Amino acid sequence: MALVDRLRKQFRELYHQEPMIIAAPGRVNLIGEHTDYNEGFVLPGAVDKRMYVAIAANDSNKICIYANHYNESFSFSPKETVQPHKGWMNYLLGVTYHIKDKGKEIGGANVLIDGDVPVGAGMSSSAALCSAYGFAINELFGFGLSRMDLALIGQKTEHTFVGVKVGIMDQFASLHGKEGHLMKLDCRSLEYEYIPFHFPDYKVVLVNSMVSHSLAGSEYNVRRQQCEEGVALLKKHDPSIHSLRDVGLETLQAYRHEFKPVVYDRCWYVVTEKDRLLAGCEALAKGDLASFGRMMIATHNGLSKQYGVSCTQLDFLAERAGYIDGVIGSRMMGGGFGGCTINIVQANAVESFTAKIQLAFEQLFKVAPDVIVTQIEDGAKKL
Ligand code: GLA
Repeated sequence: MALVDRLRKQFRELYHQEPMIIAAPGRVNLIGEHTDYNEGFVLPGAVDKRMYVAIAANDSNKICIYANHYNESFSFSPKETVQPHKGWMNYLLGVTYHIKDKGKEIGGANVLIDGDVPVGAGMSSSAALCSAYGFAINELFGFGLSRMDLALIGQKTEHTFVGVKVGIMDQFASLHGKEGHLMKLDCRSLEYEYIPFHFPDYKVVLVNSMVSHSLAGSEYNVRRQQCEEGVALLKKHDPSIHSLRDVGLETLQAYRHEFKPVVYDRCWYVVTEKDRLLAGCEALAKGDLASFGRMMIATHNGLSKQYGVSCTQLDFLAERAGYIDGVIGSRMMGGGFGGCTINIVQANAVESFTAKIQLAFEQLFKVAPDVIVTQIEDGAKKL
């Protein structure tokens, strides 16, 4: 039975009600990594892996939740002060808190959660959960919040209830995705455009390093601080600089001697990635996937060497992919320290790519990596 049908059936059994079902996807990001919180551009697309929230109002004052992933339930009263608790619950508590903070009165509801976005794989399962739950509460109580409001609520939740100072990319992508399109998002103005991604002879393939990026939060915050440190230094020379978005390579190089080497490397990566994204969009518009693939490799090298967010398994996967026929480009994707590589692979070579990369990885790391062939799909919606 399909996941959605199972969810509906389980909801009826659990709560004796008919649910509304909301689906919100995970995302891939083609290029533009760690640029979002530096106010640069990103190029994500929503994928065909989703978190589902089944929901119905109840006549108590409680939100009662059951999460299949964790076989755990919990309930809380949205009328009272909502505070962080633990684990996955914080995503729901945080979204509740920030919706209330917009002056909305949330009533009681029964909720059931499931999904097929792999957790800890860098496909933004947590952003998808926040998006699905926020979307569901917004629909159920008719609050009229926009998709961008919900994306910002998801981001604030990560900041305040989870403690990771993420950018806006993941939440934005989960809520704004469009079938067959990438989104070029300006993370400063939050303006975006849909870019057709129509390459029927190619597939976007993820290979999971099987390293769950659980420690990523604190290192992620450190990267963010290092970028801020670079900005503070450059701002002394040019007060018009507010973020690395405002910094060109020449300016950065001119003040290199004032930087701690590690901070310089971090900033160097972001400044080069920012420009690479723009060049990458041009290459895609011309249908020049070969150039785009080379840029993916450059992004990986920067993330690994200068930005320091890769790991042995991801480096192996990205490098090994380069030796396999039909692979146009490969790099680590997302925050890093584990999760997936993203690969552009000729459609007729996906099968042999899968077999080869799995075998090579398993020989070395004694575990077969999951391979996920993705489709670019719509963002959050009511089913
Ligand atoms: C994580 C964050 C995003 C973004 C990426 C790196 O996925 O949630 O905001 O910073 O890492 O590009």
